[in-house]
Amino acid sequence: MKRLLALAAAAFISVPLAGPAAVAVTGAPGAPGAGDPYFPGQGNGGYDTGHYDLALDYSPSSNHLTGVATISATATQALSRLNLDLVDTLTVRSVTVNGAAARFAQSGAELVVTPAAALDSGAAFTVVVRYDGRPTHVLDPDGSRDGWIRTSDGVYNANEPQGAMTWYPGNHHMTDKATYRFAVTVPSTRVAVANGDLVSRTSGGDRATFVWDAKEPMASYLTTVSIGKFQLGDAMLGGFRVITAVDPKLAGKAADFAARHAPVLDYFGSLFGPYPFSSTGGIVDHEPNVGYALETQTRPIYPVVPSERLLAHELAHQWFGNSVTPTRWQDIWLNEGFATYGEWLWQDELGTRPIQDSFATAYAVPADDDFWQTPTADPGGPAALFHDPVYDRGAMTLHVLRRSLGDATFFAILRAWASEHKYGNADTAAFVALSERVSGRQLDALFDAWLFQPGKPSL
Ligand code: ARG
Ligand code: ZN
Repeated sequence: MKRLLALAAAAFISVPLAGPAAVAVTGAPGAPGAGDPYFPGQGNGGYDTGHYDLALDYSPSSNHLTGVATISATATQALSRLNLDLVDTLTVRSVTVNGAAARFAQSGAELVVTPAAALDSGAAFTVVVRYDGRPTHVLDPDGSRDGWIRTSDGVYNANEPQGAMTWYPGNHHMTDKATYRFAVTVPSTRVAVANGDLVSRTSGGDRATFVWDAKEPMASYLTTVSIGKFQLGDAMLGGFRVITAVDPKLAGKAADFAARHAPVLDYFGSLFGPYPFSSTGGIVDHEPNVGYALETQTRPIYPVVPSERLLAHELAHQWFGNSVTPTRWQDIWLNEGFATYGEWLWQDELGTRPIQDSFATAYAVPADDDFWQTPTADPGGPAALFHDPVYDRGAMTLHVLRRSLGDATFFAILRAWASEHKYGNADTAAFVALSERVSGRQLDALFDAWLFQPGKPSL
């Protein structure tokens, strides 16, 4: 009996599904995670996304979100089934693959989709997910809130490292970058700000729709759709399209916020190579309880009016973290160490603090402090991603490299890193290899002491 059933199943699978020449694809399920040791369930295997079209309708008063996510992707294996990441506090109503209804099931943060017909390896396909519900943030291993963070007038939407799954389905590991279009409908008293360029703003009755285009590839932890009572600015300033959204409560203190971008971007451009995106700007929301800013692509989000130092940090991330993105969370110093070094560089340029002082202060932490027990290139787990050693040891590593190679070679390394991995992903080993190639030096001892070993390196 069992044997017969198995034979019947095999016979069924081999029947061509469409057209006389079609050969049925059987395929295998895509992996439910991308294999990142810090967040094993994050991302998925078996396909690669190219574009997300997110149509969202949100009511701040009821915290109700309705979404239609249209995801264009390519199968990287023959796929019988694939996963998307979406928390099950949101309810999926329907899923189609290439226009045909697909079976689906939600379990925790995994949305499992079984297309009516398996997908061939290499095939382009489109998934449409209709969903709704009351989104909520997640709590990160370090205790901070991440994702759809409700505010008194809307949403502070920061998604590093895992918040994207709280508001849209996707392949939410940083190695699968994609372009995005956001069409967000909110009450006409609110503004919806996302990444990239503002394409249109239309209102009908008491609702308004904001359409944003993010044309350069983006990791999903860098997406944002932030909503609130914002003063929206959109101007060409110093050669950059600067789009800003400022909470009216902070408008007085933020009068020059837009104008402060071009000087920082020009300076970083001279050191790191051209600014990689079509627009810039930022979102200033009055949310002192959130506790952190985030370098959301093209448009960082700040819970306060940023200092020059914080502005420089988030803008340095546009090159380091956003355009060049790590391949796994463990390599987060490639983001935070570089952005911290961006703070030091900008303070030095402004004349507010010589870079040698920034280095000396960070290095002055006593050798027996726990700080030195964390190797820069492996903070040890997801709870320590945003701890001081990642930021300060990371920045010190770069300064020591600069001191040892000289300015010309050091900045040539940063420019090569930004250009060779533009819009891509790269890990610590790639940075070490690139540094050795550009400098023509063997740098094992330096990187071993500063990146891989615990303990305070001697100078
Ligand atoms: N990347 C951000 C910054 O350094 C910090 C994000 C912190 N996120 C968190 N969940 N703790 O600007
Ligand atoms: Zn940072």
